[in-house]
Amino acid sequence: MPSAPLLVDAFSEAHIPEMLDWFSSLEALVQWGGPGLSFPLEARELDAMLAQTAGTEPERFMFAGLVDGKLAGHAQVALDWQNGVGRLSRVAINPALRGRGLARPFLREVTERFFANPSFERLELNVYTFNEAAIRTYRSLGFREEGVRRSSAKVGDARWDTAIYGLLRGEWPERAISSQ
Ligand SMILES: CC(C)(COP(=O)(O)OP(=O)(O)OC[C@H]1O[C@@H](n2cnc3c(N)ncnc32)[C@H](O)[C@@H]1OP(=O)(O)O)[C@@H](O)C(=O)NCCC(=O)NCCS
Repeated sequence: MPSAPLLVDAFSEAHIPEMLDWFSSLEALVQWGGPGLSFPLEARELDAMLAQTAGTEPERFMFAGLVDGKLAGHAQVALDWQNGVGRLSRVAINPALRGRGLARPFLREVTERFFANPSFERLELNVYTFNEAAIRTYRSLGFREEGVRRSSAKVGDARWDTAIYGLLRGEWPERAISSQ
């Protein structure tokens, strides 16, 4: 087990080199980031995402999970300010640290920070239906399945189903407790 607790911080340029080897195949890259990325992951793609975190109403938030100062997790939230909706995406735990229960505390803190902004009412996400570790984590945080887009992604010769999950502000326990 990791010797130190997981801390959450803003993802920055300094973290990029640490995650370039996290995805060892096209399938692993798409499972993490969706079909829009090219394999292998390159620093310039993460740099371009970081450029979208600037400004008072950025296009995305990017988070780093740190254990003993090392990059243990990565997550993003794509932001729709007009509708008060965020899409949790590109969630990953460092492959060397998977299976140790880090995903839930990491995403609990990411979700807490998202709902701390009163502009947002809904956090949603897409997850491939075979991704049991991710789905168990999202369900444990209160996300509810809202539907499945069957055969919605083409990865090589395979086609994957995408489930849609959503969590509303009023369903987020930490918010509910702190607003009592
Ligand atoms: C999804 C991911 C973030 C989960 O993190 P993790 O460190 O592997 O998982 P954790 O140890 O925190 O466990 C989370 C849950 O999944 C379960 N789990 C862990 N590994 C599993 C596996 N290989 N198969 C099935 N369930 C698994 C755990 O038992 C736990 O469920 P529980 O609390 O009900 O017991 C991580 O596997 C990952 O980075 N995967 C690759 C990228 C990805 O798929 N991202 C999600 C995109 S939507």
